[in-house]
Amino acid sequence: MAQAVKDIPAVDFLKIRKDFSVLDQEINGKPLVYLDNAASSQMPVQVAKRIDDYHRKEHANVHRGIHTLSQKATDAFEETRKKVRDFINADSESEIVYTTGTTDSINLVANSYGGSVLKKGDEIILTEMEHHANIVPWQMVAERTGAKIKVIPVTDSGDLDMDAYKSLLSDRTKIVAVVHVSNALGTVNPVKEITERAHEQGAAVLIDGAQSVPHQKVDVQEIGCDFFAFSAHKMCGPTGFGILYGKKELLEAMPPYRGGGDMIDKVSFEETTYNVPPFRFEAGTPPIAAGIGLGAAIDYLNQIGMDNIAAREQELVEHAVSELKKIKGLRFIGNSDQRASVCSFVIDGIHATDIGTIIDKEGIAVRTGHHCAQPILKRFNVPSTARASFSFYNTKEEVDRLINAIRYAKSFFE
Ligand code: ALA
Repeated sequence: MAQAVKDIPAVDFLKIRKDFSVLDQEINGKPLVYLDNAASSQMPVQVAKRIDDYHRKEHANVHRGIHTLSQKATDAFEETRKKVRDFINADSESEIVYTTGTTDSINLVANSYGGSVLKKGDEIILTEMEHHANIVPWQMVAERTGAKIKVIPVTDSGDLDMDAYKSLLSDRTKIVAVVHVSNALGTVNPVKEITERAHEQGAAVLIDGAQSVPHQKVDVQEIGCDFFAFSAHKMCGPTGFGILYGKKELLEAMPPYRGGGDMIDKVSFEETTYNVPPFRFEAGTPPIAAGIGLGAAIDYLNQIGMDNIAAREQELVEHAVSELKKIKGLRFIGNSDQRASVCSFVIDGIHATDIGTIIDKEGIAVRTGHHCAQPILKRFNVPSTARASFSFYNTKEEVDRLINAIRYAKSFFE
């Protein structure tokens, strides 16, 4: 991702691909080419088996039972917290909060942190390329608290206007919430620099890492951010599970977001006191199988190596960009030098939905629409784009099939 393609070491990606049985099928009579990885990645058999084993042999509720099965389930579930800590290089596992996904993680920060620190006249800085999940929760808390939202504009190439960012920052800025990799443009944002600038003003920084963690090595301490959110289902894990990383001292000062079992210390009708983080933010029975599945997904990704994954995907996206460029009338929406494994594009005279529908008949799955990022599409004056997003299990041949299918779709309109 956004780094020079190095020689890919001896990783047999074609062998790895065989772990993903879902890829081995025909759609509309053609071999499936799955290029909708930014929406959700596929799950390897190792992860599916781990979840299945848990259900068949290990299931019990966690954090509640003295009995052996419950303790075993708790150990397996808590093991994931350590794996996540190491995967993103957090300082401690108490900084790893289990959520149901990126959206839930951001809502937690907006409500708990935002809800307690924001006052009338304070400012929250977002970017024009945010997913709705990193816009709407802030709008809701801004409405409640009287805080204002400021937006960093995006240049024609799909990069953040960093000068504009610097001029938006002031002592009124309390929170900066920025996407690491844009799901709609593919741009990789300079989150370390963004964080440093925000900290100079005393503002806290949340990074939406839904599209970065699955594709590159992420080190939250190196970035320096206060909060970092991501989802299991985009990184070979199951749906319904995600992570909020938060700096320990911030989590410790934050009030709970949801009430219920597990998040308490003592409950009486007179007074309730709360558990320490991360449990303070984990009310109710969690998605245990999904949490154990994320642990298995991390093991799987680590075995391949995140640097190898990044290099492989960079090779695929570079091939795609160079071939897509040759198609007359095709325009990239988002054409940053800092591009992750996402190509978002429009073609003169053809609606993106038509492209998606025609190439689906050829077995090719891409996402079309506004990608839950309407403001950035408005910025580029388009209602929708077609988006191909790649994973390490895709192949160059699949990219070529995408290109051929787009040419075929285009021929209908000529
Ligand atoms: N946010 C996901 C996407 O970009 C669903 O498709």
